[in-house]
Amino acid sequence: MRTHLLRVLGSALALVVLIALGWVAWLWYESRLPDTYNVMDYGSHDQGGGPVPAGGHHAGVSIAGLRGPGVGTADAKFTLTAKTATVQLASGRSVDALTFDGRSPGPELRVRQGDLVEVTLVNGDVPQGVTIHWHGVDVPNAEDGVAGVTQNAVLPGQRYRYRFQAEQVGTFWYHSHQVSSKEVRRGLFGTLVIESAKSSFDMDLALAAHTFDGVATLNANDGFQSRAVPPGTRLRLRLVNTDGTPRRFVVQGTRFLVLAIDGTNLNAPSPIENESLEIAGGGRMDIAFTVPRTPVWISLAEDDVGLAVNAGGAPRPAAEPALEFDPASYGKPTGTPFDASSRFDRRFELTIGRWPGFLDGRPGLQWTINGGVFPHVPVFVVEEGDLVHVTITNDTKAIHPMHLHGHHVLVLSRDGVPVSGSPWWADTLNVAAGERYEVAFRADNPGIWMDHCHNLRHAADGLTMHLMYAGMTTPFEIGGTTHNAPE
Ligand code: C2O
Ligand code: CU
Repeated sequence: MRTHLLRVLGSALALVVLIALGWVAWLWYESRLPDTYNVMDYGSHDQGGGPVPAGGHHAGVSIAGLRGPGVGTADAKFTLTAKTATVQLASGRSVDALTFDGRSPGPELRVRQGDLVEVTLVNGDVPQGVTIHWHGVDVPNAEDGVAGVTQNAVLPGQRYRYRFQAEQVGTFWYHSHQVSSKEVRRGLFGTLVIESAKSSFDMDLALAAHTFDGVATLNANDGFQSRAVPPGTRLRLRLVNTDGTPRRFVVQGTRFLVLAIDGTNLNAPSPIENESLEIAGGGRMDIAFTVPRTPVWISLAEDDVGLAVNAGGAPRPAAEPALEFDPASYGKPTGTPFDASSRFDRRFELTIGRWPGFLDGRPGLQWTINGGVFPHVPVFVVEEGDLVHVTITNDTKAIHPMHLHGHHVLVLSRDGVPVSGSPWWADTLNVAAGERYEVAFRADNPGIWMDHCHNLRHAADGLTMHLMYAGMTTPFEIGGTTHNAPE
């Protein structure tokens, strides 16, 4: 009797274990990605509570046709050649890098608002292929430079021409969007500045922060760059964070203004001091001040890396700013095309989590979006003209700089507190652990757009999804003979 009972229990247990194993095996099996796939075949289409578009105005339209102006003489023309090169940091340290034109950052591209910009990308010898994404510039979709979504990766010996009208004004950057988690880290990026016709500054510099092999740099300088600048000079600095993690910049020796975030001017900025600026991975901030008679240091917090203005070799003050700049309450409110009280056509949730699971057959702790591991993530479906509301929630212990391509979002609130200062438009929003943001945007740029974490390692590990205008298709595919791998 006793042994019989044990035997029954034993087989029941074996059955449970078998079912559990079978379930895990099935999870593993169905997590595997095919060698080649179209991004539109994956994910679950989420209509954000709006009408399910019957194909939308773009039914069956390929994004490949959404190019910039094909005719017309370019006002600003550049050729960028991607190649492997040894980059020498200011200290003499050398880095085995991937570069544009042999340098990293690549050449600074400066154009005027309204210019027709033409860039020819040549791949010299980058084996995995390259593309150029114009981070923060809301270009037509087919100029967006995402391998496998808007074009094929440009393989060694090949070239690709980008053309777009520079309609925005501000600080942007460009980088490869093929195997971006590796290529950007190794140096395939540069700054892009779109100037307005009238500038009230005497001097205007873009400074790109980047970590090469664990060494913090500003424009490839791993120490202090000193500059003598005549007192009274109106100086504008464009701070760009090309890393995946936030960078804190400190300004010592002067009061300053924060003019712009992510390429959009702030309204009525007021002078601040003793505040450090945390810039999201991929984000930008523009600051300005009038050069005083006394020294000024602009540096990366906790690193002796930066720009020393009229310091004559004096070390920067040890005490770093006690306060943290808050974009949610800086400057003054002014009218915006829509706000929190607008009627939204669609409302989406974008909740980031972390759960054990399989990513393409690999077990581990995985990033999830709305509970699913890539590719079981949502695709936000919109129609042209929609006013869209997105609630981004970070339920993980990591920071996620969320970047939506092709659009700027208006930040409405953080953790339920409405933005009280200047309108704050972002293309790369630092969503810290536990934070919750409400943002809104107008769907005014048709196409299929990436929406991902700009900690590119996280993106490669599945923190990637898409915004799709109903009915649009892409002829490009991930993987296969093209070797397209955007992350
Ligand atoms: Cu700066 Cu999807 O990129
Ligand atoms: Cu992330």
